[in-house]
Amino acid sequence: MAVVISGTGLYTPTQSISNDELVHCFNQYVEKFNLTHSQEIEEGKIVALSPSDSSFIEKASGIKSRYVMEKESILNVDIMSPRYTERDNDQLSMQAEIGVAAAKEAMLAANKTPADIDLIIVACAYTQRSYPAMAIEIQNALGCGGWGFDMLVACSAATFGIINAANAIRSGTAKTVLVINPEILSPQINYRDRDSHFIFGDVATASIIEDESTANA
Ligand SMILES: CC(C)(COP(=O)(O)OP(=O)(O)OC[C@H]1O[C@@H](n2cnc3c(N)ncnc32)[C@H](O)[C@@H]1OP(=O)(O)O)[C@@H](O)C(=O)NCCC(=O)NCCS
Repeated sequence: MAVVISGTGLYTPTQSISNDELVHCFNQYVEKFNLTHSQEIEEGKIVALSPSDSSFIEKASGIKSRYVMEKESILNVDIMSPRYTERDNDQLSMQAEIGVAAAKEAMLAANKTPADIDLIIVACAYTQRSYPAMAIEIQNALGCGGWGFDMLVACSAATFGIINAANAIRSGTAKTVLVINPEILSPQINYRDRDSHFIFGDVATASIIEDESTANA
């Protein structure tokens, strides 16, 4: 049996932050911190913070800009973290929403309807809602049947999700699997940490995994 990826989907937020924008805010923070603690720095009780640098970030990581769901608060030196409007439990969560957007694109690419999907695996670094599962929330939003579950595997989430989808098909427990990787990582970044403030952004990807014989894309 040959298991294939028959369609893929991608959702990127409308907002993004360039290295220059990120560094500008970080350096404002550094200036403010060093000024506030100038006495302790002079007395050797605190080490002064060093500024960040756009070209260093690109050289060290290759990153020129990152997509985020909410930019304004991240670039506000008094906040430096994203802020979202809270949603009721009966509303679709932000993470499910971006997962659904990527999933629809993947289903379209693979020429699949919700009725074709019999397993949804949401594989990502963390889930916004634990119960019953992001996969179930997305299953309901798309109108899919079958079963679904979440897997938390940090940076390897997408590959582990796809492997589990392929294994489910090979073992006969599913025919057509939708694997979704909705990552909203900007809330987990410490934008005041020079070594890592440039890493990660927000995105969702999706893939349809099925047996080659049923793939008609
Ligand atoms: C930033 C990074 C490359 C620094 O490497 P390191 O091994 O910790 O080494 P150092 O702390 O000695 O930093 C190396 C140099 O980079 C400089 N540097 C680090 N962060 C910087 C920044 N944001 N802007 C400018 N220079 C920076 C240091 O000042 C140092 O300069 P020097 O050699 O002139 O003293 C490293 O911490 C990194 O890769 N961070 C991201 C890791 C991460 O979050 N990965 C995700 C895994 S899932």
